[in-house]
Amino acid sequence: MSDPLQSHLKISVDEIEVGMELQDVFTTDGKLLLSSMIITSQDQIESLRRKGVTFAYIKPTDTASPPEISASVNSEADQTLQREKAYYQELSKAKEVHQATLEAARNTLHDARFGKPVAIEAITTAAEEMVSSIMRNPDALVSLAQIKGYDEYTYVHSVNVGILITSLVHSMNYSEEQLLEAGIGGLLHDIGKMRVPEHILNKPGKYTNEEFSIMKRHPENGLAILKNSNSISDFSKLVLIEHHERYNGKGYPKGLNESNIHEIGLIAAVSDVYDAMTTDRIYRPAWTPQRTLAMIFQGCDIDYSRRIVELFTKNLGIYPVGSFVRLASGEMGVVIRVDKGSILTPDVLILFDGQQQRLDRPREYKLSELQKNDPDNRYRIELSLNSNDYNIRISDYISANPFN
Ligand SMILES: [Fe+2]
Repeated sequence: MSDPLQSHLKISVDEIEVGMELQDVFTTDGKLLLSSMIITSQDQIESLRRKGVTFAYIKPTDTASPPEISASVNSEADQTLQREKAYYQELSKAKEVHQATLEAARNTLHDARFGKPVAIEAITTAAEEMVSSIMRNPDALVSLAQIKGYDEYTYVHSVNVGILITSLVHSMNYSEEQLLEAGIGGLLHDIGKMRVPEHILNKPGKYTNEEFSIMKRHPENGLAILKNSNSISDFSKLVLIEHHERYNGKGYPKGLNESNIHEIGLIAAVSDVYDAMTTDRIYRPAWTPQRTLAMIFQGCDIDYSRRIVELFTKNLGIYPVGSFVRLASGEMGVVIRVDKGSILTPDVLILFDGQQQRLDRPREYKLSELQKNDPDNRYRIELSLNSNDYNIRISDYISANPFN
């Protein structure tokens, strides 16, 4: 029998590592179990073992030698430097945009709570600024969306979802107008919650059936709040109405399924759940990005579209900017930059040494560089941790511009 995937590398289950993009996964009896999957945690590898997986296929890394190696190394280093500069150049502007967007979202949701007409112009302006920032450099604003405060949840979440959706849509070659409309939809996606009584909205415990049925009306309530706003496009409205629809048809309000949820609805669903789970709430601490992505991956083909989850992960990275990670050496630090071409080897600002002692002065590691000569795998990220457990405020570490 000919190899079904001649252009791919066959690896055994023992060789599977976190971060690998598996193409086809087979059980011992040669049955195809999955056709594509990004490994985001050790748990996933264990679960593959339990399911009897013995081998899988991965895409080979592009090893074609460039014509002039020294020239290419230089230009690679130049490109990295340029990318870093562009990121930091945008970061200060992105902070202003982030603040202004938070303010616009807070005011808009506040108005909706008190039954006042919603000022769509302010939201549109904020979304325009958000799109411009993402188009100049998508990483700056996205890194700010990873800084989770303890502010009133709904408006911070609205802004984060707006940023995550816009950034993903930007990577998928949607038009600029659609970027803007998707961003507006993201900023307003939970506006219908402003009709949910606050004691239900902020309830720390589990909802009763009746409370849950009130919560579940928020997508439709959102449309009702905006019904007199002619300036809201149908594309924006799709984000509001479909962000709780699920791939298998078990979502709400309409119970649409994979074939009739719009792609922007699938994108909104993943962005919404990612931000919700990675944020501290009264009733549970934040999950790390890695654990959240692993949970989302488990919901592929059930709750979420696998294709969208993969694009989302590639766009954000498994250890997104703002993640607090531990290396195999025991050193711990904050991810400060991610190169989309190598999402497993970000730049990390090391704050704790290998004995977990706090360093007087943080040191920066470029894992992509360090791993080139790392026979003991010391510079491999082992896992992501919750920064709160180590009294680390992430926002303190992803703002300094070393080029100034
Ligand atoms: Fe929602």
